[in-house]
This record gives sequence, structure tokens and C-alpha cells, in this order.
Amino acid sequence: TYVVTDNCIRCKYTDCVEVCPVDCFYEGENFLVIHPDECIDCGVCEPECPAGAIKPDTEPGLDMWLKLNAEFAPQWPNITIKREALPEAKEMDGVDGKYEKFFS
Ligand code: SF4
Ligand code: F3S
Repeated sequence: TYVVTDNCIRCKYTDCVEVCPVDCFYEGENFLVIHPDECIDCGVCEPECPAGAIKPDTEPGLDMWLKLNAEFAPQWPNITIKREALPEAKEMDGVDGKYEKFFS
């Protein structure tokens, strides 16, 4: 499966949702997640993210993100149509430690 990682937080560009053939993106207030049981591993979304936040879970160090995607996907509403990025998206793009700031 592919997973949404740290740099989506507070950016939420949403380009990713338009290209997913199985519509498996789910929307929280500050970022999106991919439902790991629905993702068919096509990889189409990865280059679409302007923030580079989407990665295959075969990359090392993504266990925490896989868990977060799996936890929130069933709780959040499905999103299939691109919307405006968050107003602070440009400012927040690439900021370190978004997870710590967002969750603590
Ligand atoms: Fe959707 Fe393919 Fe991305 Fe999985 S890898 S979330 S199926 S676009
Ligand atoms: Fe997030 Fe990138 Fe999609 S910033 S909303 S994963 S296009």
C-alpha cells in the first residue's frame, strides 16, 4: 500500500484524490490518509503530490505512518474531488516536525 506521510499535514493539496482509481483517500482536518485495505498499489498518486508526502510502505521508517493511515481511514470521510489547499500550505510545505506539532 501507499501511505500519506508527515508533509501532507497543514498543506493538504488534495491533487492526489483526483487520480486514485479506487477512491481510497480519506480526509481529516489537517491531512489526508489512504485506506491500506483499499489501495491497489498502483503508485499513480505518488508523483501527483506537490509536497512529496505520498510514499510506498516498502520504504523504511514508515511503520508509524502506515498505522496512522490505517487508524484514521475508517473514521474519516472519503474525498474524491480536489479542493483548495489549506491557506498555509506554501508556508508549511517542508516544515520539519509537523507530526510533533500537530499531534502534541
Ligand atoms: Fe490510490 Fe493508487 Fe495511490 Fe493507492 S497507490 S492511494 S490505489 S492512487
Ligand atoms: Fe496531502 Fe499531497 Fe494529497 S499534500 S492531500 S498527500 S496531494
